[in-house]
Amino acid sequence: MQKLKIGFTYDAKSDYKLLAGDSPDKYAEFDSEETLSQIENALKSSGHNVERIGNAHVLLQKIAQGERWDLVFNIAEGVQGRNRESQVPAILELFGITYSGSDALTMGITLDKAVAKILVKHAGVLTPEFLEIEKLSQLAEKNFKLKYPVIVKPSEEGTSKGISTESVCRSFDELKKITERLIEKYNQPALIEEFIKGSEFTVAVIENDPPFVLPPVAIAIKGNTKLGEDFYTHQRVENDEVKYICPAPMPHTLEKKLENLALSSYKALGIKDFGRLDIRVNEKGTPYFLECNPLPNLGTIDVFPLVAKAIGITYDQIILRILNAALKRNNLI
Ligand SMILES: Nc1ncnc2c1ncn2[C@@H]1O[C@H](COP(=O)(O)OP(=O)(O)O)[C@@H](O)[C@H]1O
Ligand SMILES: [Mg+2]
Repeated sequence: MQKLKIGFTYDAKSDYKLLAGDSPDKYAEFDSEETLSQIENALKSSGHNVERIGNAHVLLQKIAQGERWDLVFNIAEGVQGRNRESQVPAILELFGITYSGSDALTMGITLDKAVAKILVKHAGVLTPEFLEIEKLSQLAEKNFKLKYPVIVKPSEEGTSKGISTESVCRSFDELKKITERLIEKYNQPALIEEFIKGSEFTVAVIENDPPFVLPPVAIAIKGNTKLGEDFYTHQRVENDEVKYICPAPMPHTLEKKLENLALSSYKALGIKDFGRLDIRVNEKGTPYFLECNPLPNLGTIDVFPLVAKAIGITYDQIILRILNAALKRNNLI
């Protein structure tokens, strides 16, 4: 086997300090040292040389110093702006360096939940009816056609940031109040979406040509998978009230529907090598696309160890399948 030089780009929690006035969840998506070493060790088990790079700024410095890699394994979330996840892939593309995961365009499309919804809808995938509001003046009761309850969320965040039990609204007055607060706090458009009562799944997909859909993971809140009106808030994540269940008992027909939705969305959004889709299923058993994460957390706190176990492979092996998918796509193996 030819020994390759694999770079590793990421945003480490320890590289950033919260300043006075910053929201405590500002760097919630960044990786801990523990997660980074888990991924680094898994990558090293390939036998290739793995070299930590760090964030976009360090990457630029290293490139300027003439460093190059055969492939960069990228999980950098980026710090600011709605193109933050696109920055590392765009830099690497500019310098002709191959990398794992989705490209800058896909990162941008998926970071903006409304854009992602429009694209999957165009590909025939069901997604809750929605409205995007930049200024409160765009919200008028006489034109408001969505069915209550609705959920209001920041259109360009992740990790349930900006989502609390107050995010679900049952009247126009409530909706106005919550939308105003959200636009002001997050300084970005608010996505207002019909709330899907029922259950929730997250589905990981890896590889390309063909993509491989992993067994669906059910979300349980306080031990219950029949969520009804319950949902995943930032506080619940912090308080450890949310659990992942895989394999999740479900009828074969539902499993097939989830698999089809995941596959169609993965393709429609142009995801490469790995991604994770969040799906809500209504009480009639119809699945709806909520969002797609082209940079799901690859550490053991997320679903990857669980889905690996469900298909009879180890955590290291699933990370290697992602690495190998990127190497293969770039004709490096
Ligand atoms: N339309 C919806 N219906 C029901 N629950 C929702 C809806 N949109 C979001 N949620 C809940 O909020 C959580 C976070 O929303 P999501 O769109 O996945 O954003 P993110 O994970 O990026 O913060 C979901 O996992 C789900 O529990
Ligand atoms: Mg989500």
